[in-house]
Amino acid sequence: MDPKALEIEAQSAIAGAENLAELDDARVRFLGRKSDLAQALRAVRDRESGMTLNTLRGRLEEQLDQRRAELERAELDRALAGDQVDVTWPGDELPLGHLHPITQTRRHIEDAFLGLGYEIREDREVETTEYNFDKLAFDKWHPARSPRGTFFFDDTRLLRTETSPSQIFALEEREPPIYMVSIGRVYRRDAIDATHYPIFHQFEGLAVDRHITLADLKGTLLHVMRAIFGPDRRVRFRTHYFPFTEPSIEPDVSCGICGGAGCRTCRYSGWLEMGGAGMVDPRVFENVGVDPDEWSGFAFGCGIERVAQLHYDFPDIRPLWEGDLRVLTQF
Ligand code: DAH
Repeated sequence: MDPKALEIEAQSAIAGAENLAELDDARVRFLGRKSDLAQALRAVRDRESGMTLNTLRGRLEEQLDQRRAELERAELDRALAGDQVDVTWPGDELPLGHLHPITQTRRHIEDAFLGLGYEIREDREVETTEYNFDKLAFDKWHPARSPRGTFFFDDTRLLRTETSPSQIFALEEREPPIYMVSIGRVYRRDAIDATHYPIFHQFEGLAVDRHITLADLKGTLLHVMRAIFGPDRRVRFRTHYFPFTEPSIEPDVSCGICGGAGCRTCRYSGWLEMGGAGMVDPRVFENVGVDPDEWSGFAFGCGIERVAQLHYDFPDIRPLWEGDLRVLTQF
């Protein structure tokens, strides 16, 4: 190997490299582990040629570093000249979300009641047995008091099983007339399936005034069901039992899928169950110091998931709690 010839050849390759990739090729070719120079260095036996080859390597490395600095500077200059920011260019579009179907349904319900002059309220989710049961006139034997059905923290505190305690709060806060709807989450130890989840939402209404009758309850529910589901709906009452209403009823709304003729959704009855309702039991009035001879009222409670399910017509409520955008973006 002729060191002089090698140096000339390497110098012109380094100087002629137009970019960092070409420069790296030159480095590998002339200084890499398999280059002639490296092999010659490995084969050196005498001090003199060792020194010659070593200084040659040093010179080439220095030139390489210099050329690399030049090329990097040139690349930066090019990038700075090319990467101008055009502030008039439209920005990247961000995906916009929308309200969860339960929130949409909840607002829909709120609108219907606000239109009737009702006040909307929200109350606590951790309740006492006093407000969840006692003041609502639940007897000691009532099955909802069992830890098999209800999440208890201790003997007196639990996750509310219904929004009905709001009736007591509203009645204790001020004198009638009261027209209120309470909306929020409730909890029950239910096994999860297509129509049950241990956490769900209810809306709870209470109207207390002079001379309120069952006919007012029916008219109110009819109005609200039509506001939610459309003007063709009908409402009917079946008798039932609840501790805090007397008489108690279960309101049904006519099935919107078959128009009342009978189909799979309404189990061929033409009607859909919508929750519970009734006239406020005088015992509840006495528990909060309201005179049952002067005032009367009605109450009702209904699950929001059920309303959403009927409104959007989906077969299973579980996805409402799973946050899967493939499902939620459809509503
Ligand atoms: N709280 C009852 C439940 O969760 C529903 C209910 C029934 C609410 C009758 C009421 C009512 O206000 O009057 O099953």
